[in-house]
Amino acid sequence: MWFQVERSDRKTLTQQVYEQLRHFILNGDLKTNEKLPSTRELATSLGVSRNIILEVYDQLVAEGYLIVKPRSGTFVAPGSVFNKHEYQDTLISKELFAKTVKDIIDFKAATPAMDHFPRKAWGRLAKEVCYDAPDSIFGYHSPEGIPELKEELARYLLRTRGVICNPNQIMITSGATQALSLITEIVIKNKEYVAVEDPVTDEMRTIFTYGGAEIYPIPVDAKGIKPEFLSQENPPGFVFVLPSHQFPLGGTLSIQRRIQLIEYARKYNCYIVEDDYDSEFTYEGTPVHSVQGLDPEKVVYVGTFSKILSPALRIGYVVLPTGLIDEFKKLKWYKDRHNSTLEQLILTRFIKEGFLERHVRKMKRIYKQRREALVNSLKKHFPDCSILGHAAGMHLVVQLQSIEYNTQLINWIQEHSVQIYSVDHYSINKGTHCDKIVMGYGSLSVDIIEEGVQRLKNAIDSYQF
Ligand SMILES: Cc1ncc(COP(=O)(O)O)c(C=O)c1O
Repeated sequence: MWFQVERSDRKTLTQQVYEQLRHFILNGDLKTNEKLPSTRELATSLGVSRNIILEVYDQLVAEGYLIVKPRSGTFVAPGSVFNKHEYQDTLISKELFAKTVKDIIDFKAATPAMDHFPRKAWGRLAKEVCYDAPDSIFGYHSPEGIPELKEELARYLLRTRGVICNPNQIMITSGATQALSLITEIVIKNKEYVAVEDPVTDEMRTIFTYGGAEIYPIPVDAKGIKPEFLSQENPPGFVFVLPSHQFPLGGTLSIQRRIQLIEYARKYNCYIVEDDYDSEFTYEGTPVHSVQGLDPEKVVYVGTFSKILSPALRIGYVVLPTGLIDEFKKLKWYKDRHNSTLEQLILTRFIKEGFLERHVRKMKRIYKQRREALVNSLKKHFPDCSILGHAAGMHLVVQLQSIEYNTQLINWIQEHSVQIYSVDHYSINKGTHCDKIVMGYGSLSVDIIEEGVQRLKNAIDSYQF
């Protein structure tokens, strides 16, 4: 036979023979109706026991690749050849794609430093929790999350963000994404709409529209959302804001506008949904308190561990006004019962034993360095550039020169192996922010940042405007 088996391979001999034959059939190397060698012949040629070949033939017959004709032998069944070229082309293009993507320096915003996940502390706590926790943690639990974590979070949020709540108001969710999606389902009824900052991430818009809401854009300037653009005739179900660090423009909502928002919500009986996704990382001045602290019954406060730890954990939370608690719990139960109790316990210990605040302090230093590297590099290569927004989070917005970042230019830049994002990409009303780009630096080392800006410079210098 035209293949061999490897006794040192981790795969069993049966598995190896099965996979090879299946591959030859799918690929068309063994043609439809072609006769296979007898089990005895194949066993001798491969130097394996006949039982192995019998087992493999049985399996392939059961799956429809082979048919047995009594007193004639075993044949390749019609219809089991898969289009070889298409299949291989797909594989090749995927390989090429992976190679190209690997070389690109991607200034994607909101990606945290994956190289700094606190593996050691998390791993140790995970082991301890798994060994020491009572058997009951391996059963079902209530949808809102474990009380220990909610209590830790309530203390942490009051201390760091001025969030005022009882632990009962906190619901643990699968990231901010799930929190926002469930809030939309609960609050938006009778075709009400959500007022959103414009620009805003497309992910957030999608969450609201999938949740059944229309969206209505409200313009943003350097001080955040402009409340005077909220409708006085037809108020929304809620206003979605990123007051600490607007995405993407980076403004911090002024206290006057915070008050205006709360007054609006009180007057029109709607909610303010505050997404506080990256407020831990502020590099100038002191972080402003949450809007929630101004009126806990009018503000739904959403937070996440995706930026301070890792999005892979899928842990976020929402602090609810008391009137929304029961309905939220019911919906959360129906969606996924509850988040992993093991992960919640690990996180509880991580906060309780001081690892979280230590990690945040360390990451703040690292992100600050990365931000400075990006700002310095931009100023070196584009001396006239302006950096916009508050020095916070993991991204900045920059105006390099008076350039319009249309698709053609973005593609040209990408051909120079660097990926940047136009602010206009995030705009609902297009055309206002075409001269600005968003650059994320959270997951890029200082050297890569410098190299990325150099590539950007080369791309812009060689573009035919
Ligand atoms: C504005 C905003 N909020 C929150 C998140 C975090 O979502 P999650 O907690 O589901 O990972 C993101 C993700 O990029 C985001 O852009």
